[in-house]
Amino acid sequence: MSNKIIFSNSGSHRIFNCVASILFLCGSLNINAQPIALQAPSDKGVKLEEKDLAARKQLTTILNKAQKSSETQDKIIQFGQERTILCNVCHGEDGNARRAGVPNLAGQNPVYLLDQIHRFSDGRRYDRTMASLASTFNEEEKVMLALYYSKMKARPNKIQDPEQWDAGKKVYDIACAQCHGENGRGEKGYARLASQKADYVLKMLNEYQSYTGRRANPWMSAVASSLNKEEIAAVAAYVSTLK
Ligand code: HEC
Ligand code: HEC
Repeated sequence: MSNKIIFSNSGSHRIFNCVASILFLCGSLNINAQPIALQAPSDKGVKLEEKDLAARKQLTTILNKAQKSSETQDKIIQFGQERTILCNVCHGEDGNARRAGVPNLAGQNPVYLLDQIHRFSDGRRYDRTMASLASTFNEEEKVMLALYYSKMKARPNKIQDPEQWDAGKKVYDIACAQCHGENGRGEKGYARLASQKADYVLKMLNEYQSYTGRRANPWMSAVASSLNKEEIAAVAAYVSTLK
């Protein structure tokens, strides 16, 4: 079943809506089945501000509501469909990026998505387009965006070069799995890397490595700096194929 159907609110059929609600509730994404950690392990080394914690609390509240009420789910879906028209141009209607250098948002950990939307809107992370777009949403809307995308399904890339894939897996298991999860699904509040676009992962690793300042994380800079060009390309290709 496609993501569009999971999220579609346009059908007037009751059964259809019911199926959509069940999928929303029982979606395969790990984090939504569990209470959201207000303090994630990924916070180490990152200065979390009061407003970040307040936002995460709001995320938990709205998520809890959505798990009990189809009305809240419908609200999130409807909001998402109406307010992501611009986002679709780059991130795709189903949350899978359509342009080079753009990340997939589908299936991403909602805490991570919310944090990033905040960082774009207050300048802690810099990207010109994202900065101006992120600041057009109020707090509740940011939460709804994060939940909307977290429920979509990311499409993994096919293995293109088996030798490079093997090399990428080696790098991943040694240097990344402890934080991003054995299968890259962003357990424990870390960014999900599974199915992420290889070109975007490559771009981010290069940024962390060269301290461009567009985003700053001491852990990621340390890890990225320990890798050479081939290892970066290999690990980027590897994670893009994970489901
Ligand atoms: C013109 C293209 C474009 C549009 C339109 C756009 N984005 Fe983005 N978005 C990007 C790029 C490029 C990045 C990566 C920025 C970077 O290099 O740090 C990004 C990053 C993000 C991230 C961080 C994801 C991650 O994995 O760290 C989120 C969340 C996001 N966008 C949400 C949105 C939302 C919500 C909208 C609509 C309101 C939107 N974007 C519209 C291009 C776009
Ligand atoms: C010590 C924990 C830790 C390790 C090890 C680690 N990461 Fe990360 N990673 C993080 C944190 C925390 C973030 C979020 C940083 C931020 O907000 O800028 C992150 C973010 C990322 C991002 C950005 C995701 C996005 O959607 O924009 C990529 C790509 C990434 N890591 C790749 C890797 C790879 C590849 C490895 C192994 C070579 C790795 N990381 C190892 C903690 C870690």
